[in-house]
Formats: sequence, structure tokens, C-alpha cells
Amino acid sequence: MTDAVLKYGDQELPLEVLDVTDGDRGLDISPLRSSLGLVTMDRGFGNTAESRSDVSYIDGEQGILRYRGYPIEQLAEQASFLEVAYLLQYGELPTASELDAYAQRITYHTMLREDMKNMFEAFPHRAHPMSILASATSALATYYPDALDPLDPESVDISARRLIAKTPTMIAWSYKYAVHQPYVYPDNDLDYSANFLKMMFSVPAEVYEPDPVVVKALNMLLILHADHGQNCSASAVRLVGSGHANIFSSIAAGIAALSGPLHGGANQAVLEMLSAIYESGDDIDTVIKRAKDKEDPFRLMGFGHRVYKNFDPRARIIKTAAEEVLEALGVDDPLLDLAMQLEEIALEDEYFVDRKLYPNVDFYSGIIYRAMGFPTDMFTVLFALGRLPGWIAQWRELAADPGARIFRPRQLYTGPAVRDMTPIDNR
Ligand code: SDX
Repeated sequence: MTDAVLKYGDQELPLEVLDVTDGDRGLDISPLRSSLGLVTMDRGFGNTAESRSDVSYIDGEQGILRYRGYPIEQLAEQASFLEVAYLLQYGELPTASELDAYAQRITYHTMLREDMKNMFEAFPHRAHPMSILASATSALATYYPDALDPLDPESVDISARRLIAKTPTMIAWSYKYAVHQPYVYPDNDLDYSANFLKMMFSVPAEVYEPDPVVVKALNMLLILHADHGQNCSASAVRLVGSGHANIFSSIAAGIAALSGPLHGGANQAVLEMLSAIYESGDDIDTVIKRAKDKEDPFRLMGFGHRVYKNFDPRARIIKTAAEEVLEALGVDDPLLDLAMQLEEIALEDEYFVDRKLYPNVDFYSGIIYRAMGFPTDMFTVLFALGRLPGWIAQWRELAADPGARIFRPRQLYTGPAVRDMTPIDNR
């Protein structure tokens, strides 16, 4: 179907508009360069789709997020994280027996090779956990070279399960090394979130029972972070995978991309921002003024989003959970009150209203993580743990796409015109 005609000088190029289930339809510009000798320019790919995807749907204007058609609100409330990991990768919610079988296969792969301890111990004690996680994830390809073929579905299934099974252990072990405590091995009698908490916070000297409030909250937080379409880190995973790099290398690229403070690193930056505001005693109007001042590099971290021009539905859920979890844990964190005051004032300020800047997923999540006992520099690692099944689903979708091509964007060259070298003695 030809729905659009591009006029350029005396030329006309009919272009097809591609249909979708929901959201933006796409103008197929594949004949553009060969027909008109033009390429497109679209900073940050704000108007550009590289592929069709069935995984997640986001309506930024309405504040809607669905995984494989299911509203995030229902999944956060009713599902388990492994149930969502299955849904994202296989496209359908599992039956009870399918989920049991999947959970079993994950549970029995949670242990790491003992010599991976040498890798964690090679890092400085204060190394950032995201740098360790990206390195350890890439290193999994060296420990498990038997299933790296991206075009073999069985290998992909095995490696995907290893990633989901072993990442909590890698995170917990890197933490234990950082705090000079003994490694805690996985406990196959516990579910995914409870097992992770035990590996993180138990010590041999005491009996450890995961707090059900914390287990439930962590399960929900992991689900809320599980996928988000073609965000920066998912695009990094797809780009690396488009060259047929193995899944461990591709996910390591996603972890690296997520670490940036404009992306997943924002949850750590929010807590550091709130703590700095609280300790400085600055009034909120001063903070808001700084966030609006173009001469000041300060931004209100946890606010704004490329896609959401309404409330991030995840932020709404996390804000409610933050109040409930802190109350249940008997934690009175002044930073939660400060965050709520900041939100209230910002949402009435025309600078934020005009630019449709609302709290995003990172604005409140760190407050819950802190109440759970996680150190601030681990918040983004928790985002990565949640996003893992989404990254894997995006990577698998591209690997299975018969129309997939290696990512190789064009450029607009604005450098020097051709010129001859001057011999070095004459420069
Ligand atoms: C995530 O893409 C995803 O889906 C990401 C994510 C996921 O689940 O994968 O949702 C996770 O990364 C959430 C975002 C976390 N980052 C932050 O909270 C950092 C603070 N936010 C911003 O840096 C910014 O809002 C971004 C990076 C999130 C979005 O950047 P855009 O889309 O490129 O928007 P922009 O920088 O062009 O901003 C538009 C305007 C600008 O002002 P003007 O030039 O129009 O005058 O809004 C301003 C910006 O200066 N602005 C802010 C602001 N965010 C945008 N001003 C003050 N404080 C902010 N936080």
C-alpha cells in the first residue's frame, strides 16, 4: 500500500506505510537512498524504528506499558518474575506445569564455576558493581562455550537460562567480595527473589529468613524493569547481536549501556541527588530553579523520558509500593518525603509541564532498594537484573528475524574535503 509520496526537487518517491497492532505506523524508507540519493537524519532515533517487535508496547502519551499485550499493572500485581521472563521470551504466559518446568531449569543452574571467584577477587573492592557485572556477564561465554551459536534455538535456550539463573549469584558474590563477607551459595528451596536476597544478605553466623514483604516488593520491581521496547540498552543488545555476537557479549553491552546516568544509572543518581539536597538543606525551589537553568548542568534525575510524555506507569506503581514497603519495614526515610515534595512542585512548574517531564521508573525505585538494605551503587545492577529477560527477548527476536541485517547506520559527513598530506618536516 502506498500511503505517502516524498517530493524532492522534481522527483517523487512513493513510500509504503507499514501497519501495526497499536501505536505509531512506520514509513518504509528503504528505497530512499537508491531512489533519491538521500539518507535520513534523526538524532537519538526519536522518529526511527529499526524493526518490528512483538515484545512490549508503550504509549507515551497515555502512559501505557504492556508486555506481550498484558498491562504492566496486572503483571506487577499478579505474576512472578520468572513467569514474566517466560512470557517475554516465549510470547505467552506459561501454564502451571510449564512455569514449574521453567523454574526448575533455572533453579538448577544458579551455581557458578568455583573459579569465577578468582575473577570477582581480581577487581578492586570498591569497583562499581555495574562494571563487574558487565565483565562477568561477558566472561560467561568463556565458561560456557558449548552453547554460543545465536542461530541454534537450543543453544540460545540454554544460554538464556544460564544468564537468568546465574546473574543473581554473580551479583550477590561480587557484593560479598566487596563487603569482605563469605560467599553464600544458592538455596534451591527458595524462589528466585528470596534466593537472591539470601545470597545477598545472609551470613553463616545467623539463620536468615527472607522478609516476605521484601521478597514480594523485589519480585514486583524486577517485573516493572523487565522490558521497555527499544530503549538505549535494548538497542545496544540488538546492535551487538546483529553482528551474530554471542548472547553473553550482547547482554554485557546492554549492561554497559544501562550504566549511564541518563539511562539506568539514573536510579543511583536520584538517590545521590536526594541525599545531596537533604544534606545541603537547600529548599526545593532552589533545586527546581537549578534544574531549569540551562547554564547549570544539574538535572532533576529520575524526571523526563524520551517516550513517556505522561506519567511513567512504572513510577506510579513504585511510588505506591515505596510508601507501603517502608511502612511495613518500619523505615522512615526523609528522602521519600523529599522526593514527593519535589514531584509535587515540579509537576506544577511550567518548565516541567511544558516539556511534559514526569517522574520515570528511576525516581522512586532507589528509595525502596535502600529500605531493603541494598547499597546505592547496586541500584543499577538491580535494574539490570530485572531487565535481563527483556534484553534476552529482544535479542532472540532479532536473531530469529529472517529480515534482520547487521546494524550499520549512515552518517552525514561534515569533515574536511579531500586534501593531500604535507610531509611532516613541512608541517
Ligand atoms: C530510563 O528509553 C527508555 O525506555 C529508558 C527507560 C527504560 O525502562 O529502559 O525508561 C529507563 O532510562 C529512564 C530515564 C532515566 N534518566 C533520567 O532520569 C535522567 C534525567 N532525564 C533526562 O536526562 C532526560 O529526560 C532523558 C535522558 C530521560 C530523556 O532525554 P531526551 O528524550 O533526549 O529529552 P531531552 O534531553 O531532549 O529533554 C527535552 C527537554 C530539554 O529542554 P529544552 O532543550 O527543550 O529546553 O527537557 C529538558 C531538557 O533540558 N529535560 C530536563 C530533564 N529531562 C529533560 N530538564 C531538567 N531535568 C530533567 N530531568
